[in-house]
Amino acid sequence: MEKRQRWPSRMIFIFAAIGSAVGLGNIWRFPYLAGKYGGGAFLIPYLIMLFLLGVPLLIMEFAIGQRMQVGAVGSFRKIKRKLAGIGLGSVLCGFIVVSYYAVIMGWCLIYLIYSFTLKWGADTKSFFFDNVIHLSKDVGEVGFISVEIIFALVIVWALIYFSVWKGIKSVSKVVLVTMPLPIILLFILLIRGITLPGAIDGIIFYLKPNFGALLDFEVWSAAMSQIFFTLSLAFGIMIAYASYQHESSDISKSAIITALVNSGISIIAGFCVFSTLGYMASRSGVPVSELAASGPSLAFIVFPKALSLIPFASVFAVLFFVMLITLGIDSAFSLVEAASTVIHDRYSHIRKEDVSLYVCVFGFICGIIFATFAGLYYLDITDHFITNYGLVLVGLLEVLAIGWLYGANKLRNYVNHVSEIKIGKWWNTLIKFIIPVFLIVLLIANFIRDIKHPYEGYPQWAIFCFGWGLIIGVLLLSCLSVFFSRQKNNV
Ligand code: PHE
Repeated sequence: MEKRQRWPSRMIFIFAAIGSAVGLGNIWRFPYLAGKYGGGAFLIPYLIMLFLLGVPLLIMEFAIGQRMQVGAVGSFRKIKRKLAGIGLGSVLCGFIVVSYYAVIMGWCLIYLIYSFTLKWGADTKSFFFDNVIHLSKDVGEVGFISVEIIFALVIVWALIYFSVWKGIKSVSKVVLVTMPLPIILLFILLIRGITLPGAIDGIIFYLKPNFGALLDFEVWSAAMSQIFFTLSLAFGIMIAYASYQHESSDISKSAIITALVNSGISIIAGFCVFSTLGYMASRSGVPVSELAASGPSLAFIVFPKALSLIPFASVFAVLFFVMLITLGIDSAFSLVEAASTVIHDRYSHIRKEDVSLYVCVFGFICGIIFATFAGLYYLDITDHFITNYGLVLVGLLEVLAIGWLYGANKLRNYVNHVSEIKIGKWWNTLIKFIIPVFLIVLLIANFIRDIKHPYEGYPQWAIFCFGWGLIIGVLLLSCLSVFFSRQKNNV
């Protein structure tokens, strides 16, 4: 049998894990959540969730991959054959995410080109909706495929492919650039941001604590989902990456470093985003609260406008979009690597290069739907459902499988055997009881909310096709795969 690939060093492994964790979510999701849910007070639920949920789960995923020495499907299969479906579910969710994540990166690429001339002009909103993504009036109006976006998408997928084509061997080299570079750029933009006049108003908006918010359940559930998403948990990524570590490598320290660096960057990104918005508020007279936005609106509407007000605007615009692209690319290829690890584990006679190529081509094809004129609507719905249900469900099944079938204590003993920082018995309690209860509550709360009000008022058919339907599809495929694999093995 072919020998398993290895990370050249533990540092590179940590680089790759941080690269995956630090992504668009740190720049356009965390600051917005903080601004919206209690300012500085949001840090309380966020940090509590980080230590109660994030770090223990990251330790768990690292430990599973490193102990089993295979990707997510194989790892759960080793625990019990029927559990392989959990691994498949996680990889499928990841695959769906990367198909739209790549489209967003395509937009970043287009904006990078536009940055040189600040082509978006004064009305950045209509520029984004009408000239870039050609957003149709209605979800049902698919329109055409935007040629520009498809072109950018091909380039993004080529970048992803060349990052993962030789598996860990190529990833190890690429993360040396894609992990530190965006962080350096973030610091440059941060310094620019906080030295702008009016920056302080933005920072006050970001940090001013509203402790009343802590009484709101929504704030806690937002913190919980953010921790899941930001640490790239439940996508099979961290399991796949850790499976390329030696069985005796340290686990808990790597997990703590990854989690702390990731959250540190989120908090710093908040200063960068809000100081720039503070400046924009002082120039435009529009209050920061109205400028604060998340997701694509922040990156493609508010920020381009804010940047164009700064002296040497195009320089900073270029830096901003290079930062987004390099931030996103290692998150995107980590999702591809999670999928190709699983496929290569199962069909090891196929060359890794070919496996990566098939995954990339398939990912590109699946992403085409998001490049249509109604693509943003589909992307929005898919993202909502995968992050609110797919991941939480997979995460729940993972903890139940480890806590109750494999044995939390058994995994903890392994972690302690190889790690410098020992974890106490509290970890078992978290994995067996507390985290499952949290996740079940989150799942039910999300479900009630979405049943009461269809997400963003989208029509039922769209919610079904790009939301519930996808989740049901993932569940069905995962269950069927177990059924068929059992049949085969029983013969
Ligand atoms: N962790 C990434 C972020 O915060 C998002 C992501 C999740 C990317 C899962 C890849 C996989 O942006």
